[in-house]
Amino acid sequence: MKILPNPQKSENISGAFLVDEHSKVYTDGSFDKQVERFVTLVQESAGFRLEFTDVIEEAQIIFNHTEECPQEGYVVSISQSVATVSASTKIGCFYAVETLRQIFALDTSQTNIMCANCYIKDAPKFAYRGLLVDIARHFFDLDTLKQIVELMSQVKLNKLHVHLSDDQGFRLQIDKYPQLVTVGSNRQGTETVKDGKRYVDETPYGGYLTKDDVRELVKFAAEHNVDVIPEIDVPGHFVAALASYPEYSCTGAVNEVRKTWGISKDILCAGNDRSYDFIRDILDEVCELFPSEYVHLGGDEVPKDRWCNCRLCRERMSELKLNDYDELQTYMVEQFRIHLEAKGKTVICWNDGITKDASTEIVSQIWQPFKQRSAASHTKTGRKVIISPYFNAYFGLPYAMTPLNKTLKLNPFKGVPRSKRNNVLGVEGTLWTEYVDSVDKLFFHLLPRLDALSECAWGYHKGGFNKRLVRRQNLYDNLNLTFNVNATKRKLFGRLATTKHFFRKDSDVEYNKHRSI
Ligand code: ACM
Ligand code: ZN
Repeated sequence: MKILPNPQKSENISGAFLVDEHSKVYTDGSFDKQVERFVTLVQESAGFRLEFTDVIEEAQIIFNHTEECPQEGYVVSISQSVATVSASTKIGCFYAVETLRQIFALDTSQTNIMCANCYIKDAPKFAYRGLLVDIARHFFDLDTLKQIVELMSQVKLNKLHVHLSDDQGFRLQIDKYPQLVTVGSNRQGTETVKDGKRYVDETPYGGYLTKDDVRELVKFAAEHNVDVIPEIDVPGHFVAALASYPEYSCTGAVNEVRKTWGISKDILCAGNDRSYDFIRDILDEVCELFPSEYVHLGGDEVPKDRWCNCRLCRERMSELKLNDYDELQTYMVEQFRIHLEAKGKTVICWNDGITKDASTEIVSQIWQPFKQRSAASHTKTGRKVIISPYFNAYFGLPYAMTPLNKTLKLNPFKGVPRSKRNNVLGVEGTLWTEYVDSVDKLFFHLLPRLDALSECAWGYHKGGFNKRLVRRQNLYDNLNLTFNVNATKRKLFGRLATTKHFFRKDSDVEYNKHRSI
């Protein structure tokens, strides 16, 4: 059976099952929306509309509520001319319909809808199955984000982490601080690798999500069982916001949204009380918009040079009797965590922003390539972790550096003691967009890595992935989405050369060679 992500358990049974215009659907009323979605998919694929019946004995397709399935799980059992779908929740039934879409090939037009008889019992191993999209380095609008959500939901991914702000752009409307978008969403040029060199172009660049955009995204995502997790990265990666309100920087002299990539020394001042109010106010508006249980506060790559040279930051250090500036960062994040906890939110930070004194309530997202081992130390303290290792899950990098099989081979439990495995919430792939400056390139970098991510994050990776991927590739073709046609071919030579070429001479080196359209 060609199901992607591979289910927990599946068996073929002899014989086949046919859906035709005489087939009738019975539902006990628990999952009307999901059942209607199945009926619509059948209609789009084969042109007929299935009828409903109230008499279970007359039905060939039965949707049932059962308490026996776990939260996101389902059972599909097809034999003796009856297909029975069971779940305990709407989410489980949603995923059952996605599986039916695959086994009946409902993405294609067909006259006969058929499948082999089978028994599938499925539920994810990991509750957190995420994808980060960086809309700060390059902006991707509501329609693109909705399309990503739809593709994610088809392979049972459930968290869209939106990186809303960085040095190169602040991309969320905040009413109390209008300059965050009037100033912070625009930069006057962009670092580019093209024509054999790396340089900064002088083309103005901008874009941001309005509050209405976010409301529409969140609603659409909820209909697809995807939570949208906002990230406001502090205190580093914050130049765009500081250029909008320089009074919250240590020097007061940040005057330009950054045009180049890398790490800026300009960070949020930790000695100024008003910096804390600034962030709390922003977070208040973020929480009003995003119902997600999680709020991501970034915390990665924070050089402390400005804090060392700032009178207010040094005073704050001695007032609090802190030993070093990392502890000052921990103090700052803790103030925001307390603020968010009162609103029922759980904070996620990147692993390098978490010191040993940081509250164990903060979830650590482990990204640094040699720190997956720190998953072990984090989980031992009871901290929850999300696994996003650089060499396996960074989709903004060239395929030469992060080939598909590295994502497939990622073991989220690596190094974590068996007794602490329940602290591994799951896996997240990241699509950083320094080198992804168009929607086509975004899908080229993402597809089919998204499918490999789901295979890993659902938790039951098995051989035959490439064969199971064919249906997805056909779908991408039908949707006119660019994807990497060569991603499944193992490349033994030339990976280092291509990687160097990508970073030094032309970041489109793979895109130009391997795209589908
Ligand atoms: C990161 O890649 N700086 C989290
Ligand atoms: Zn300062």
